[in-house]
Amino acid sequence: MSEPVLVALRGASFAYEDGPVVVDGLDFEVRGGRALALLGRNGSGKTTLMRLLSGGLRPRTGELTVEGRAVGYDRKGLTRLRTTVQLVVQDPDDQLFAASVGQDVSFGPLNLGLSDVEVRARVDEALAALDITALADRPTHLLSYGQRKRTAIAGAVAMRPRVLILDEPTAGLDPDGQERLLATLDGLRASGTTVVMATHDVDLALRWADDAALLTPSGAHTGPAAAMLARTDLLGQAGLRLPWGIAAAELLRAQGLLPAAAPGPRTAEELSALTTARTGT
Ligand SMILES: Nc1ncnc2c1ncn2[C@@H]1O[C@H](COP(=O)(O)OP(=O)(O)O)[C@@H](O)[C@H]1O
Ligand SMILES: [Mg+2]
Repeated sequence: MSEPVLVALRGASFAYEDGPVVVDGLDFEVRGGRALALLGRNGSGKTTLMRLLSGGLRPRTGELTVEGRAVGYDRKGLTRLRTTVQLVVQDPDDQLFAASVGQDVSFGPLNLGLSDVEVRARVDEALAALDITALADRPTHLLSYGQRKRTAIAGAVAMRPRVLILDEPTAGLDPDGQERLLATLDGLRASGTTVVMATHDVDLALRWADDAALLTPSGAHTGPAAAMLARTDLLGQAGLRLPWGIAAAELLRAQGLLPAAAPGPRTAEELSALTTARTGT
């Protein structure tokens, strides 16, 4: 893993007012170009960690760095952070507030003091990336849940962040909506955005992520997704189950249908291709 560290927490601790200690002495890195899945049970601190990484919460001890430099929590420091890291919260209704889709998506770029021409260009680009250009003038309160979710993501994309952090982005979407979202994220990644997502869907994480961070009571454990998601000890501590693709790979290896070093299937299509290749049927 030699990709540059874009955002990092060093020795970060955080507790809510009258609340539990959620993060204690945490070291956590987001590396450029690596799709990162943040996994853990409800209440394990995924949302808190994402808010610490995007500056919405400030660590009590330790520091947040962007490209190696500590973030200042003054206006200048937070602007530098927000043009590097953008968070899309889980519930789009917590993020959308303007009357129309176009107005909502333009809010961030306008706040950066960009020219009207530049704002227009960014809004058009973000709407196109999320495939919602046709919704530009639609009142936000008339959108479906999936459309509100896309609008919220477009608002973050319009800031042209280097790191886009999504809190449980597939929650509440139907299967087709999930596939469309994954395709959109692939497009953003291809254009150079580093994407981090929180989820408790281990199958989705195995399929989508390069790296996985498992949040357990003993802290965050990060590494290549396929290896981390086979760690039954950590999955148990994190309250997660084994992805079916890992279980299928173990079965295939035991049957001599998959060489020890070969990667296992991550989707039903990959499983089908593997077994067809071996049996010739
Ligand atoms: N605003 C808040 N005030 C007090 N406690 C909170 C607040 N938000 C979250 N918590 C607590 O912090 C812990 C981590 O929550 P959270 O980061 O939301 O986890 P996750 O996103 O993994 O479900 C939980 O124990 C939760 O109850
Ligand atoms: Mg959460």
